[in-house]
Amino acid sequence: MTGSTERTLIHGGRIITAVDDYRADILIEAERIVCIGQMLQVGPDTRRIDASGMLVFPGGVDCHTHMENTFGQSVTCDNFVTGTRAAAFGGTTTIIDFALQKPGDSPLDAIARAQGKAASAASVDYSFHVIVTHVDERVLEDMRYAIRHEGVSSFKMFMAYPGTVMSDDAAIFRAMRMVGQHGGMIALHAENGTVIDLLVREAVAQGHTSPRYHALTRPAILEGEATHRGIKLAELAEAPVYFVHLSAKEALKHIIEARDLGIPVFAETCPHYLFFDDSAYANDSFELARYVMSPPLRSKESQNALWTALKTDDLQLISTDHCPYCLKEGYRGHVNQKPLGRDDFSKIPNGVPGIETRMTVVYDGGVRSGRISLNRFVELTSTAPAKLFGLFPKKGTLAIGSDADIVLFSPEESHTISAATQHSDCDFTLFEGRQVTGRVKTVLLRGEPLIDDGRWVGRVGQGQFVARGELRAQW
Ligand code: URP
Ligand code: ZN
Ligand code: ZN
Repeated sequence: MTGSTERTLIHGGRIITAVDDYRADILIEAERIVCIGQMLQVGPDTRRIDASGMLVFPGGVDCHTHMENTFGQSVTCDNFVTGTRAAAFGGTTTIIDFALQKPGDSPLDAIARAQGKAASAASVDYSFHVIVTHVDERVLEDMRYAIRHEGVSSFKMFMAYPGTVMSDDAAIFRAMRMVGQHGGMIALHAENGTVIDLLVREAVAQGHTSPRYHALTRPAILEGEATHRGIKLAELAEAPVYFVHLSAKEALKHIIEARDLGIPVFAETCPHYLFFDDSAYANDSFELARYVMSPPLRSKESQNALWTALKTDDLQLISTDHCPYCLKEGYRGHVNQKPLGRDDFSKIPNGVPGIETRMTVVYDGGVRSGRISLNRFVELTSTAPAKLFGLFPKKGTLAIGSDADIVLFSPEESHTISAATQHSDCDFTLFEGRQVTGRVKTVLLRGEPLIDDGRWVGRVGQGQFVARGELRAQW
């Protein structure tokens, strides 16, 4: 595959969408898919990509990433350059990242700052959720403006981390009531922050300072409680609600109950909850800082319940919560990373990498192991996030008129995951040493190659902001 021509033909592949599975060629022109058919004939000036033996998917959509996000003193170690390149290698062509409302500023300032970081740095397409940390009439007005005029229609609010980003129930309710009326959605981080804070302070005072106490002070029951409360607030506000990084069966049961009643409640889970469990917190080694994310890893029963819920659509999608901090202080110049909490687990920045491995580990551990179908895999990693967050059908499918964001995936090729061969700036992956079958080979973003047969051919700044519209069409 060489040169840059206006038209591209992907031929001989097996097309997989959330509902289809068939062999056909795809013709791309001016960034979009213009034709899908068998034995398409094209002239010599059309670039041809041979997809024989490949699965051809829509590019992954990851609606929960943190590139160059600041939490307290720590900044995630991937910025839009390194993190979106890693995304592309992992088969993801669109991310929804975060724009943090700082004290005293407006959601619109937060969007402008995030746009400044991503523009000319991202190599995949991107959008933002605003993290709303303060609500008043002016903020509500600016959120409304963001939905209507800035293409930003989702907002994350925290029920945890008191004193920094946590919102109280009244603030969450006010924001929900407004977005419910204006076509937006609140995404909730559901953990009972004030009780967790108490448990953390008690643990540290007792000298329990190693990373495993991170998990012991954030019990599943407090995710369950906050999830239930969040659903009730949304019900009262007559608004849809989305739960990020759902990890525990104690939370899942409330999602299932609400959905069974027809309440517009949605939730994601993440690969780390699907492939790791709380047996990881087995000793007091600081090495376990790699498993410090919020919520923490849960029981094996929770893990099994999450897989079942993905199958039954009680959970709608898999995102990464890619929020990487290095294990080694100073790695590639990154400071205030995990070792910040060497003597006190509560100071370990919360989060793990995942954007480069999502599609592969879910394919290998989900599809190949018989837990989900191939179509459901595409739905969970691309179509559902695109639909839920207002990107569909531009993103999330292979259809005439859709952006030509396309992954050629080699379904039988095995490889071993290692941080040493990845493209993120993070010095570890939870999946280190795992042998997986299925590999991202070639990735196109709006028709232009980012990855060609496993080699980077993309360009920093190739990604574009994607404006999203009102979300109400989804429920
Ligand atoms: O541990 C996590 N999840 N860190 C990222 C911030 C968040 O809450 O999503
Ligand atoms: Zn969160
Ligand atoms: Zn997150």
